[in-house]
Amino acid sequence: MKQLVISTILFCSLLLPISVSAQSDVIAARKANFKQSGMAMRQMRTHIANADYEAIEKSATQIAAWAEQMPEFFPANSGPDTNKTSARAAIWNDFDTFTALAQNNHKAAMALGDAARNADNAGIMAAMQSLGQTCGACHSKFKD
Ligand code: HEC
Repeated sequence: MKQLVISTILFCSLLLPISVSAQSDVIAARKANFKQSGMAMRQMRTHIANADYEAIEKSATQIAAWAEQMPEFFPANSGPDTNKTSARAAIWNDFDTFTALAQNNHKAAMALGDAARNADNAGIMAAMQSLGQTCGACHSKFKD
């Protein structure tokens, strides 16, 4: 449902002529999604401590789903020159790299989900570390 609402917001913002309010909607939506990923990462530590494989898989799937959609939430004119956002202008100068980093994030989250499905503790620890690195790799390049 939430995904549907967010997709609807995005869809509408693409149909409307470029306006400040439409861009602020998509920015608010992406911030909410990132916040959710951050929360999922924090909760992951508890799930891992409890060896709760189902919960690990669920959180990983949620992170992966957002990573897959992420680039769509960075339309033109949603950068820092005209909006209140921590997204750097560099994103729109090198959108291919930004997209590739989002794909790395997606892949790493999927790998964590796979490790959880296999109850593979060593695999989970390794995948968790890689996943965290894919968040940091994009932030250090593209987020203030
Ligand atoms: C491909 C790039 C990219 C990846 C991958 C990425 N982020 Fe981000 N993240 C950003 C950008 C850009 C912003 C700033 C968004 C804005 O302010 O409009 C951001 C913002 C955030 C925020 C702040 C949201 C807010 O309230 O303003 C959190 C928390 C966050 N990211 C967590 C994560 C976590 C956790 C991961 C990994 C699971 C992750 N991000 C992966 C680019 C990325």
